[in-house]
This record gives sequence, C-alpha cells and structure tokens, in this order.
Amino acid sequence: MIPIADLLEIAAITGGTGLVIAAAGLALMWVIRDRSVGAMLAVVAAVTVAATLGGVVATTFKMLINPHDRSVVLTVVAVGGMVGFGVALLLARRVVADSRRLLKAVQIVPMFGQFTPPEGRMPTELATISKALEEAHESLREARERERALDASRRELVAWVSHDLRTPLAGLRAMAEALEDGIIDDPATVQRYYGQIRLEAGRLTQMVDDLFELSRINAGALSLSRHRIGLDDLVADTLAGVEALARAKGVRLHGASQGMLPVEVDSGEVGRALRNLVVNAIRHTPADGSVSVQAGVVDGMACVSVSDACGGIPEDDLPRVFEVAFRGSAARTPGPDGGAGLGLAIARGIVEAHMGAIGVCNTGPGCRFMIRLPLSV
Ligand SMILES: Nc1ncnc2c1ncn2[C@@H]1O[C@H](COP(=O)(O)OP(=O)(O)O)[C@@H](O)[C@H]1O
Ligand SMILES: [Mg+2]
Repeated sequence: MIPIADLLEIAAITGGTGLVIAAAGLALMWVIRDRSVGAMLAVVAAVTVAATLGGVVATTFKMLINPHDRSVVLTVVAVGGMVGFGVALLLARRVVADSRRLLKAVQIVPMFGQFTPPEGRMPTELATISKALEEAHESLREARERERALDASRRELVAWVSHDLRTPLAGLRAMAEALEDGIIDDPATVQRYYGQIRLEAGRLTQMVDDLFELSRINAGALSLSRHRIGLDDLVADTLAGVEALARAKGVRLHGASQGMLPVEVDSGEVGRALRNLVVNAIRHTPADGSVSVQAGVVDGMACVSVSDACGGIPEDDLPRVFEVAFRGSAARTPGPDGGAGLGLAIARGIVEAHMGAIGVCNTGPGCRFMIRLPLSV
C-alpha cells in the first residue's frame, strides 16, 4: 500500500508538470487560433501525450525506481501516447475532410444554382451547418422566384399601360382637336363628343386608380385598417351601390345572407373586391338575366358567392381570369363598357391580403365567383 503522503506528492508533481505543459499548449493554441481545426486537434493530442509523459518521467525520477522499471514504464506510456496521438490525427483528418466537402458543396452553388448537401455522414455540427445552408439556400431561391414573378408582372403592366392608356388618350386628343378646329360644328355631334370625352376621362381616371391599387398590392404596401364588421352588411351596402347599374342594364339583383357574419377586415378594400365581382356579373349577364349574391358560412369560413347568367366562362380562361390585364376576348382594346382587366387581379390581391381565398367555377346559366374570409371569433 502506498502511503498517502507519497500519493499526494505524485499528484502534485504530475499536476505541476501537466499545468506547465497545458499552459504552453494553450499559448500555442492562441497563436494558431485562426488555423485549421486539424492543427488544433493535433496540439490537443500532443499536449495530452506530453502532459502524461512529463508527469510519468518526473514521478519515476522522484520515486527512485530502478532504470529497468523506469524504461518499462516510459515505454508503455510512450507507446500509449503515440497511439492516442495517431487516433487524434485521424479524427482531425476526418473533420478537415468533411469541412472541405461542405466547402466544395457551397462553392459550386453559383455554377449549378443549387445547393446539394455532401453525401455520407458528418459530425453533428457540420451536418447542422449543412442543413442550415440548405434551408437558407431554399428560402433565397423562393425569394428570387417571387422577385422574378413580380418583375414579369411589372413588365406586363408597363406594356399594358403603354397600350391601353395611350389608345383612349389618342381618341380624346383627336376629339378635342376636332372641336378646337371647328371641324365638328353640328350641335348634336359636338354634344356627343363632349359626352364621349367625359366618359373616356372617367374611364381613364378609374384605370389610373386601379393601377395605383394594383401596384400597392404587388408591392405588399396595402395598409389595411381592419375593423370587426358583419359581412352581410357589406354585401347589402355593395348591392345598394350597384342597384342603379343593374336597373340600367335590366338585370335583376338578389341578395341573401345567413345571419350575421363577423369578419375583421378593411371594409373599404373588401367592399371594393366585392363590387368588382358584382359589377362584372352585371356586365356579363344579358338583360332580363339575374345576378345573385349569397353570404354564409362554409367550412368554418365566411363566404360570399356571386352567381350570374353570363353563359359560362370558357374552361381555358377559368384559371386565367385573375391574371393582371386578362380580358377574355383576344382584343386588347377595351369595348365601350369594358374594363382594363384589373378588377379581378385587384379583388384577388385584396382577399389574399386578408388571408382569404377567391375562386371561380361555371354553374347553371353562368359562373360563380366565391370569396372566403376567416371568421372573426
Ligand atoms: N362574371 C363574369 N362572367 C363572365 N366573365 C367574367 C366575369 N367576370 C370576369 N370575367 C372575365 O374575366 C375577365 C377579367 O375580369 P376583370 O379582371 O374584372 O377585368 P375587366 O372587367 O376589366 O375585363 C373579363 O374580361 C371577363 O372575360
Ligand atoms: Mg371587371
């Protein structure tokens, strides 16, 4: 049995030698703090081996064991240390190789536009970095895709503006010039020109207003001032607002609501979306036809549907009616009461900004547009 005092002495000698070597190792680590993980792992292994060897050498000298025993002990410790050092180097090589694979996967991203994580297993930290890189790349890709879509719609809008605003402006100009030069002097025609100019100016104002709304929607700058209201009230208000239009066209309007439908919306914006649907329905329904607006709850959502007697929208057009500047007929020039093809795009933008959904299907004598909005609890 070794006396306690000897044990304490051995601990003190080994600890002291270890501390000196550890301090040297830490200093070396600080010097190489921006070098490879491999070099750092090698230092860690070297410090471990050196601290053990140092402790053993100091202790064997102190304990006065004979040279033969000392050689045996030193050889055992030295070989053990070498094995440990070798394993540490192998580990270091693996970590370095894995980090190089990850680096390579990142470096080829610009070439292929795609981040493919390195195959095979990796230490947890590197695997986490790889996963985070993959997610970051995915969200960047989605952002780029959105940007591209937005850019395309902006370009389309500019092309649209240059065509559809110029045409009526040219007409206005021609009429104003004819009036100014006195080419037109027959009072009835003059009166007709004035009426036409007022109509065109009104339509242009509406278009500019719609364009402005659409650009705010596209830029995500639609600031909604939401209030809790009854969707049934909004439907009633909208119907009251389009009654004159329906009467002038000879179209019957029906409205029905399944009780109070509480929603938290910007009533101005949702009212605008709803009005766009109802005005479309009236425009596309022949005289003596009827348009019906129903509000209720479907699948836990507040729902308004606008059904008309337009004779159905061609199946090919159904998915496209909500696109900016889509107008059904091939002609790009708006007809006498035709809009600019922005109404449904605006309606969709407004409904989606409220976390709702809008859709269309053909039913009965025409089609049915449907708006769904979350119920307010
Ligand atoms: N109620 C409807 N019935 C039939 N077709 C419709 C109806 N609403 C919209 N459409 C079709 O969708 C197109 C786009 O509508 P919209 O965006 O409101 O533009 P606009 O009314 O200015 O033409 C219309 O030109 C028309 O072809
Ligand atoms: Mg319209």
